[in-house]
Amino acid sequence: MCIVLTIRVTEAHVFNVKDFGGKADGKTDISKALLSAWNDACESLEPSTVLIPEGTYFLGPVILKGPCKSPSIGFQVEGVVKAPSNPSVFKTDGWIVFQYINGLTLFGKGTFDGQGQRAWSINNCAQNPNCKMLPISLRFNFLNNTLIRDITSLNSKNFHMNFFACYDMTVQHINISAPGESANTDGIHMGSSGRINITNTVIATGDDCISIGPGTRNLTVTKVVCGPGHGVSVGSLGKYKDEEEVCGISVRNCTFINTQNGVRIKTWPSSPAGIASDIIFEDIIMQNVSNPVILDQEYCPHFKCDKDDPSLVKLSNIKFNKIRGTSSSQLAVIIACSKGAPCEHLEVGDIHLEYTGTDGPVQSTCSNVKPICSGLQIPPTCI
Ligand SMILES: *[C@@H]1O[C@H](CO)[C@@H](O)[C@H](O)[C@H]1NC(C)=O
Ligand SMILES: *[C@@H]1O[C@H](CO)[C@@H](O)[C@H](O)[C@H]1NC(C)=O
Ligand SMILES: *[C@@H]1O[C@H](CO)[C@@H](O)[C@H](O)[C@H]1NC(C)=O
Ligand SMILES: *[C@@H]1O[C@H](CO)[C@@H](O)[C@H](O)[C@H]1NC(C)=O
Ligand SMILES: *[C@@H]1O[C@H](CO)[C@@H](O)[C@H](O)[C@H]1NC(C)=O
Ligand SMILES: *[C@@H]1O[C@H](CO)[C@@H](O)[C@H](O)[C@H]1NC(C)=O
Repeated sequence: MCIVLTIRVTEAHVFNVKDFGGKADGKTDISKALLSAWNDACESLEPSTVLIPEGTYFLGPVILKGPCKSPSIGFQVEGVVKAPSNPSVFKTDGWIVFQYINGLTLFGKGTFDGQGQRAWSINNCAQNPNCKMLPISLRFNFLNNTLIRDITSLNSKNFHMNFFACYDMTVQHINISAPGESANTDGIHMGSSGRINITNTVIATGDDCISIGPGTRNLTVTKVVCGPGHGVSVGSLGKYKDEEEVCGISVRNCTFINTQNGVRIKTWPSSPAGIASDIIFEDIIMQNVSNPVILDQEYCPHFKCDKDDPSLVKLSNIKFNKIRGTSSSQLAVIIACSKGAPCEHLEVGDIHLEYTGTDGPVQSTCSNVKPICSGLQIPPTCI
């Protein structure tokens, strides 16, 4: 007698947009084909994958929704997918929106090209608070167990990626790219989300590389290279009442090249109460960064805020450790805590930053905090 073991290889069933009428001619909108492929994949009872094969495609705004019946769903992009360049085509705030999905894997060697050039030239949001919001390239809303790997996101009109209410998310080996002078093209922004890991990723943008909004908990960022752009930022926080707290953030083994900031925490002055705690920046390399280390509780871009009252966002258990490299400004370390809610338990260890200019030695400034210093201190912190 012998026992026959059947090993079932569960290969995902593939739903190719070309089989749903999607044309790789770079000008016919494939949104109908993509939605049909998505719906069939989502309804499938086996693991399934939507495929955009090699070629150039034009895709209008789409919302790819779950919940799905398939136990897991892949979205594989091997081609170049281009967004409409005219922002007025968008009735929604995103180009490709994924929502209510458990077990999404977005992967492939392909590129999402947001074609933002035209939109950047008309973006006046810095001057006009009532400006029309430009669409974010890739939105992820209410997702659990997501993996994003290998893809490229190019020239978004607004942020490249936004995570909202996402839990258990891994981002690895992706490439985000937009010119240094493109407004608001943050790499990855997130809020109200948790257990997120971002690793082995390259981000070049005109705004924050990664920005960490209210309600972000348990985020690890490792081996990310940023530049150009505005660096990794917790915040801005304290803009609205009843913001959720930010906690459990670690940024390690990252490199910043020619960025405006390196590692940053920013909160608005005159803000309602809020909390951000357990934040660590460690093993960071700076190359010609303007503000390598900056904690700013009087964040006030474009002078459009009321500085009369202090920020009431309480920062505690913050650590800057093992940060080295070069600063393009003399004031390499700025720690400006709030006088209304002074920082608690702020540690600064092993900082070695060289100023590349000739105005004198590298410097630091501190207010409303007594940091716990250890190791090398170049510049000397808070003296
Ligand atoms: C995600 O997980 C939360 C908490 O377990 C659950 O309430 C929600 O329905 C899940 N969403 C999806 C799309 O699976
Ligand atoms: C993220 O990384 C942490 C620490 O390395 C690990 O414990 C956690 O399981 C990871 N989370 C996910 C969603 O992979
Ligand atoms: C990222 O993508 C941009 C645009 O396609 C490309 O120029 C750059 O070489 C890529 N970077 C990496 C590290 O792959
Ligand atoms: C974050 O991690 C802490 C400590 O491990 C844990 O207590 C908390 O529940 C986690 N929060 C989320 C949203 O995963
Ligand atoms: C981070 O960098 C430190 C110092 O270079 C090194 O010891 C450590 O192994 C690195 N960690 C990772 C996860 O690469
Ligand atoms: C260093 O940064 C400054 C200011 O951000 C910039 O003007 C300069 O070109 C950069 N130097 C190099 C060598 O990239």
